[in-house]
Amino acid sequence: MKVLVTGATGFTGSRVVPLLLDSGYQVRCFVRETSDRSPLSSLKVEWAVGDLSNPKALTAALRDTDVLVNIASLGFGHAASILRSAKEAGVKRGIFISTTAIFTQLNTSSKSIRLAAEEAIQASGLDYTILRPTMIYGSPRDRNMWRLIRFMKQSPIIPVVGSGNHLQQPIFVDDVAQAVLLALQNNVTIGRSYNIAGKTPLTYNQVIDTVAFTLRKRMWKLHLPYMPIVRFLQFTERIRLRLPIKAEQALRLNENKAFLYEEAKKDFGFSPRSFEEGIKIEIEN
Ligand SMILES: NC(=O)c1ccc[n+]([C@@H]2O[C@H](COP(=O)([O-])OP(=O)(O)OC[C@H]3O[C@@H](n4cnc5c(N)ncnc54)[C@H](OP(=O)(O)O)[C@@H]3O)[C@@H](O)[C@H]2O)c1
Repeated sequence: MKVLVTGATGFTGSRVVPLLLDSGYQVRCFVRETSDRSPLSSLKVEWAVGDLSNPKALTAALRDTDVLVNIASLGFGHAASILRSAKEAGVKRGIFISTTAIFTQLNTSSKSIRLAAEEAIQASGLDYTILRPTMIYGSPRDRNMWRLIRFMKQSPIIPVVGSGNHLQQPIFVDDVAQAVLLALQNNVTIGRSYNIAGKTPLTYNQVIDTVAFTLRKRMWKLHLPYMPIVRFLQFTERIRLRLPIKAEQALRLNENKAFLYEEAKKDFGFSPRSFEEGIKIEIEN
């Protein structure tokens, strides 16, 4: 069976592709002219060059494949044309990575685009499965936990916006890859959308404690008042001053982001690792 993977060169995609190959799938990677192919350079894959904003290239890349695994973000408004390309190329099965960020109470910039993308997939007539991961971590490419680890290695004090008591449930990148494979292998997932998350939720304070424990380091948390910090960050954005954290991220930190994954467990045996296990792998590798 041949699979076309979009987002193959990315943080998650580069973990999905080897797993698909190991499980006997042939893989064609849809990459941009500018994509860095080095994470996949040792693998036996076909390449198709194009951009998701160019439906013709995607349709051509999808020809003579059986499945589309769409890992590239649905937040850029390409969903409708991706679905048209799949239809034109005669591809009937699609696995789509979405995000639990669609459940945010905030009016974030990409929420409506992502919600519209899911609705389009669900109405497309394709044999689809949507997987919605929480925050994905697991390597220096993750842009979230790696930054925290790096900061904590250098500093004895960690600023925490607000109480740090809100829940989150980060998912290890290889558990996302495993979910893609299992969803593909289990036809019960056709026509269904699943939240996927780490084993159990933990507070941001517990995230810091777990990272500190794994680094064998003592850390002091400096709790900063929530709203003044958000207002300050909003002000810096208005005057176009770039800081490592955006107001939207600070606001998201103070939302509970714990998600049940019972449906994924029941339908395809999804069994993610704990944050303690995952962060140990990330720090030790
Ligand atoms: N990271 C998280 O914490 C997180 C959490 C929940 C859900 N998700 C979802 O999980 C998926 C993977 O995330 P990630 O963090 O692994 O992504 P990533 O590292 O940013 O990789 C994105 C991939 O998509 C490709 N891509 C982007 N725009 C494209 C375009 N216009 N045409 C063709 N290819 C394009 C990139 O190609 P280049 O190599 O050319 O840049 C890259 O291979 C995304 O759908 C994301 O929304 C991520």
